[in-house]
Amino acid sequence: MAVERTLSIIKPDAVAKNVIGKIYKRFEKAGLNIVGSRMIHLSQEKAEGFYAEHKERPFFPDLVAFMTSGPVVVSVLEGDNAVVLHRELMGATNPAEAAPGTIRADFAQTIDENAVHGSDSPTSAAREIAYFFDEAELCPRTR
Ligand code: PPS
Repeated sequence: MAVERTLSIIKPDAVAKNVIGKIYKRFEKAGLNIVGSRMIHLSQEKAEGFYAEHKERPFFPDLVAFMTSGPVVVSVLEGDNAVVLHRELMGATNPAEAAPGTIRADFAQTIDENAVHGSDSPTSAAREIAYFFDEAELCPRTR
């Protein structure tokens, strides 16, 4: 299986609920290494840029308002099949449809405030990681 990287964002609702550690524990338990991590409060411009592909969607203004409403934790996760594995851990976009035991089922209530983001492909992951991190900031395991 290929070692991949993916971008994780723990969104403002999950940070406010104080469940950063619980979510990180799930990543680590699944074999994903956290090789980059930063807590930031997104500016309007940074959030709009990140979600630019959705700018024509009706929910775009609310999404940007939510993502700038408080701090987020952006992380780079590395491991075998990281993109798909991380999305399995997250569960469906709509928490009402998320499988039991997934992050969204356990920590989110609505599609508007759904606790976490994860890259949807290796191509998106490369773009999203570069949006937040320089390669030199990442710390792959050496042992
Ligand atoms: S879609 O419909 O497949 O393009 O949606 P998706 O890529 O899964 O999600 C787009 C991001 O917008 C967030 N969001 C919403 N999506 C759908 N409907 C509503 N009402 C909505 N509100 C917010 C959704 O969580 C996705 O954000 P990320 O950060 O990628 O999870």
